[in-house]
Amino acid sequence: MQDGEVVLSSVIASQMTTHGKYGGVVPELASREHLRAIVPVVREALGQARSSLSDLDAIAATVGPGLVGSLLVGLTFAKSLSFARGLPLIAVNHIEGHIHAVVLESRQAGTPVEFPALALVVSGGHTHLFEMREGFQYRLLGKTRDDAAGEAFDKVAKLLGFSYPGGPIIDRLAPRGDPHAVRFTFAKMKGNALDFSFSGLKTAVLRWVQSRAMQTEIDARRDLVRRTPGPTDEEWIAVTPQATLDLLASFQHAVITELLTRAAASAGQIEAQSLIISGGVACNSGLRTAARLAHLPCPVHFPSPGLSTDNAAMIAAAAFPKLIRRDFAGFDTLAQANLTLA
Ligand code: KG4
Ligand code: ZN
Repeated sequence: MQDGEVVLSSVIASQMTTHGKYGGVVPELASREHLRAIVPVVREALGQARSSLSDLDAIAATVGPGLVGSLLVGLTFAKSLSFARGLPLIAVNHIEGHIHAVVLESRQAGTPVEFPALALVVSGGHTHLFEMREGFQYRLLGKTRDDAAGEAFDKVAKLLGFSYPGGPIIDRLAPRGDPHAVRFTFAKMKGNALDFSFSGLKTAVLRWVQSRAMQTEIDARRDLVRRTPGPTDEEWIAVTPQATLDLLASFQHAVITELLTRAAASAGQIEAQSLIISGGVACNSGLRTAARLAHLPCPVHFPSPGLSTDNAAMIAAAAFPKLIRRDFAGFDTLAQANLTLA
């Protein structure tokens, strides 16, 4: 990234085909894949940017939260490069990266995020609401008490026989079903009303499945996953009856309602001037449409789909203000699985 504004290159090494057949990320395989990919990816990123190591002013790496084995690969590689080239090291929080993807793109689009802003980070590991003030000061307003929204998508998909990650598949199939066919109810939150909970929804889907004779269609989908690495929508639909498409549409509708209801309440509470929705689940087209149509109290900013799921450009974007402040990390910096933002 140049001047904190221009993304010169953004290379992503996807591990979806490795983990897809296991129904989720296998930590040991993830770190091995990172180790295999890191040198070719850095080389390709420099090549695409028509740059070399001597053009760099600093090296940024994610320190957490996440799987420690994978974090260690990136952090150790960054430390080594930083040591060898005498470049400052910048430690970035993954969640802040997701938020900065939006800050960067909103500036590029000429409609910058205004403060105070509300950030809803929805990924495989997080469903968090942060108040964000000028100077990138964060305050946690609410979070999930159990599953993250992306995790709920992935778990529901898995129990229905779809492959990992389930979010994009449910997103593509949901428009073929009736979002009002199955009614899900959400428990009222005791304590912080801005917290989320998705485990009840997952259990409701499980009960729905158990009360119907669905094993044959679930087995047919599992068989499809074994035969085809990435089934097409038509292949999924051929083994998914209308009632199951209705279930997917209703589940997605329930998740979106839960997310937007609490986001709207928090935005009102802090008199937010902008709402940022970021993280892998921000790719969801139903969520994007619903956020556009909902009467939210302030403008909503989504990242482009390419910057919604994990990527390096968002880490560089979050690192840039630290570079300006000369907020550098030492070689004793550790990877932190449960790092928080606020
Ligand atoms: O941010 P991300 O790439 O990785 C984490 O930091 O977790 O998010 C991955 C999550 C997965 O749970 C995946 O199912 C979900 O984002 N996801 C989606 C969509 N695309 C990715 N969920 C719903 N709809 C999508 N289109
Ligand atoms: Zn992420």
